[in-house]
Amino acid sequence: MDKHYYYQNSVQCVEAEIDFVESTYQTLKGHPAKKLREDFCGTAQTACEWISRDAANQAWGVDLDPLVLQWGNENNLNQLTVQQRQQIQLLNEDVMSASIAELDVVLAMNFSYFIFIERDLMIRYFKSVKESLQSNGVFFLDAFGGYEAAKELVEERECDGFTYIWEQATFNPINSQMQCYIHFVTDEGVRLDKAFDYYWRIWTLPEITEMLLTAGFKTAEVYWEGTDEKTGEGDGIYTSSKLGTADAGWVCYVVAEK
Ligand SMILES: C[S@@+](CC[C@H](N)C(=O)[O-])C[C@H]1O[C@@H](n2cnc3c(N)ncnc32)[C@H](O)[C@@H]1O
Repeated sequence: MDKHYYYQNSVQCVEAEIDFVESTYQTLKGHPAKKLREDFCGTAQTACEWISRDAANQAWGVDLDPLVLQWGNENNLNQLTVQQRQQIQLLNEDVMSASIAELDVVLAMNFSYFIFIERDLMIRYFKSVKESLQSNGVFFLDAFGGYEAAKELVEERECDGFTYIWEQATFNPINSQMQCYIHFVTDEGVRLDKAFDYYWRIWTLPEITEMLLTAGFKTAEVYWEGTDEKTGEGDGIYTSSKLGTADAGWVCYVVAEK
């Protein structure tokens, strides 16, 4: 079983993510973004989507784990044309000291920055992102929360040929830190337990926006998902908002301008 294959086909929706980044940058700045860095890039699927949108786009993916980058190279970058291959570079580096700068956009998605559990460390990361952006650049993050985020639970979702299982194994309300796992089970019943594990602090949105402003960003705005009138579910459209809904579980974007 190939855990990265299952991950890409259950967790990620890079098209929707890049649609949001493209249109939000265009709205904020009045011109398209070109140079993007994907922090915590894993298999670099998002960076590949970015460069596939325009021949003038460039992307850098940064991850500490050489094995996940190798998988991305062999399975995602290898699908690109010769021209596209020149638009992207994977860097085996720490996001804290990533070497690529003068960027239009930096991404920290799939809550990966929740790995920084101390405030000072998070602010240091945010400051380093700010330094990596050009003067008009924008930092995009996602976040999750709601009262179910603070619960120990197991959730299953049927995917094509397998089941994705998200486990919040422990949550400590005193420090807001949690242990999570992703497991997969094929339709034939083969299990891949603890394919991924994450030890995170669940940061609240006011904490995240306050730390971004402390790090020197000019703005830090929450983009909240709208509701489909017919189904009552999220409609996939995220807009800058000051008032959210007290949902059991929500995912949103945070957008910070340098
Ligand atoms: C939750 S995964 C996210 C992968 C990918 N961004 C995605 O959206 O699917 C977290 C990734 O962050 C990487 N990582 C953790 N700490 C890091 C750091 N300090 N610098 C760079 N990468 C790091 C891990 O190796 C892992 O691949």
